[in-house]
Amino acid sequence: MDPLTDTIIALKKQRNAAILAHNYCLPEVQDIADHIGDSLGLSVIASRSDADIIVFCGVTFMAESAKLLNRKKKVLMPEPAATCPMASMCSAEQISDAKSCYRDACVVGYVNTTASAKAEMDICCTSSNAVSIVSSMKEKEIIFVPDINLGTYVASKVPSKNVILWNGYCPVHQSITVQNITELKKKHPKATVIAHPECRKEVLDISDEIGSTEKMLEYVRSSGGKEFIVATEIGMLHRLRKECPGKEFYFIDHALCSVMKMTTLSSVLRALETMGTEVVLDDGTMERAEGPLRKMIELK
Ligand code: 13P
Ligand code: SF4
Repeated sequence: MDPLTDTIIALKKQRNAAILAHNYCLPEVQDIADHIGDSLGLSVIASRSDADIIVFCGVTFMAESAKLLNRKKKVLMPEPAATCPMASMCSAEQISDAKSCYRDACVVGYVNTTASAKAEMDICCTSSNAVSIVSSMKEKEIIFVPDINLGTYVASKVPSKNVILWNGYCPVHQSITVQNITELKKKHPKATVIAHPECRKEVLDISDEIGSTEKMLEYVRSSGGKEFIVATEIGMLHRLRKECPGKEFYFIDHALCSVMKMTTLSSVLRALETMGTEVVLDDGTMERAEGPLRKMIELK
């Protein structure tokens, strides 16, 4: 065990803090977390947490969502520079321009966005509920931001809607190619292919199962299969191995999200010691961004 672990656990108790970590975090960070999960699961946990402090190990949009859903709490980000590149592919101004072009459309926005972008949305979604959220909208025209791959996947599942796509993407999932999958499939012909919906359409088309990181885990747990090619970020391997012993997992080596790896045990300890860096959002943004997130949680 890392020598920092005991110190973190003691300090966490003393401060009445809860540590939340995304499935892509470093293994040692996942191991000290009170809760590990996908974006939706962690948002729900953040909204219900009775800890005084939430230490968010992940990227900024996740910590901001935790703050929006539990405003009275102090939310700390050990690595405040850990910003998802997809979140910077869609600004509040761009959404507002799109709304003026498509006046009958509503805006469904992936949580991988800034709080100010969320303030312009009708409702948020994550990769695990995007299909049901889009289906539930009364409008026929949906501006779906910012992930073009998730948006294309949703459009294929909800043909009754006219989904207007954005040009954002996750560089990590976008880098996974059909060739990467077919090479792994040649080496492991019995393996089931499971893919995150942030992957390109052509990758999803050759996958057996598509879902968020938590859905992937649920699928592997209940599957009778023994081998899985996993088209997502490499951090998922830790939980899959831990919670599904006896099964083999094959990942695409380059599918690594550097911002998710920024949070280390040292930075978690520093956050608890210094009580920083606190997530601070202005009141106006919070007022407007909370609604779309809360609506999502209620519809979940
Ligand atoms: P989920 O954990 O919700 O599947 O999201 C993946 C992701 O890219 C988070 O950054
Ligand atoms: Fe953003 Fe992709 Fe990293 Fe998730 S895996 S934080 S979507 S860059």
